[in-house]
Amino acid sequence: MSLKTSIDLKKLPRHIAIIMDGNGRWAKEKGLIRALGHESGTTSVRTTVEACVELGVGNLTLFAFSTENWNRPKLEVKTLMQLLITSLRKEMNTMQKNSVQLKAIGNINHLPEKVQKELLHVIEATKENTKMILTLALSYGSRDEIVNATRQICDKVKNNIISIEKIDDELINQHLYTRNLPDVDLLIRTSGEKRISNFMLWQIAYAELYFTEVFWPDFKNENLYEAIINYQKRERRFGKTTDQLK
Ligand code: IPE
Ligand code: IPE
Ligand code: MG
Repeated sequence: MSLKTSIDLKKLPRHIAIIMDGNGRWAKEKGLIRALGHESGTTSVRTTVEACVELGVGNLTLFAFSTENWNRPKLEVKTLMQLLITSLRKEMNTMQKNSVQLKAIGNINHLPEKVQKELLHVIEATKENTKMILTLALSYGSRDEIVNATRQICDKVKNNIISIEKIDDELINQHLYTRNLPDVDLLIRTSGEKRISNFMLWQIAYAELYFTEVFWPDFKNENLYEAIINYQKRERRFGKTTDQLK
């Protein structure tokens, strides 16, 4: 029987974020080149997106390319950028069919123009979709995001648009790439690595962390269900005591 039936649909995480890791090791284990690991990972993206929509998860954010990933061999970066273009083209229909709205976070201007063009095209075409917001983190780094937000806020203070006293959690939130997205409830990382790798440091302040050994291309819907069930068993206290939660 599928684990799906054990999920409490009334207690779904509002926002799931995934660090999709292990494509290279998946390929290496099979004696394949890394590019084939990345390609295979796109299938997991599709099945995960569809599973989240079907369950009723409102927000899914996928870490697809980090600011640090620019330091990979030129050819690998090129392959990943090309794969992005083909996947966006291929998945547009699936997004429309499932009423998924696409967003992107990160230093999008750094992406090759062709990728930007395809990305903006799909973002524009899906902007009225309401079932789920799918956010791709591309050329994304949390420190870069915080630096960027700090500059914008300082600029507003300098030009007397806001006063220093107005700076609070909410104002900072509104200057991050993720403005308008709720905080992350469940953060999943595949491939066995137990680190955050500069992903949404601010937004995961109270997220539940879930690490699985499974490489991203092997990540199936059952693995997602397992993560959600595990999440639902946890007590989120947000600093309070258990008694206070009753
Ligand atoms: C994740 O898989 C994809 C990206 C970071 C773009 P990796 O390419 O990091 O795979 P491993 O970690 O080398 O196995
Ligand atoms: C994090 O994975 C970035 C993405 C999944 C896009 P990495 O493979 O780049 O992270 P590190 O280098 O192992 O920390
Ligand atoms: Mg990796």
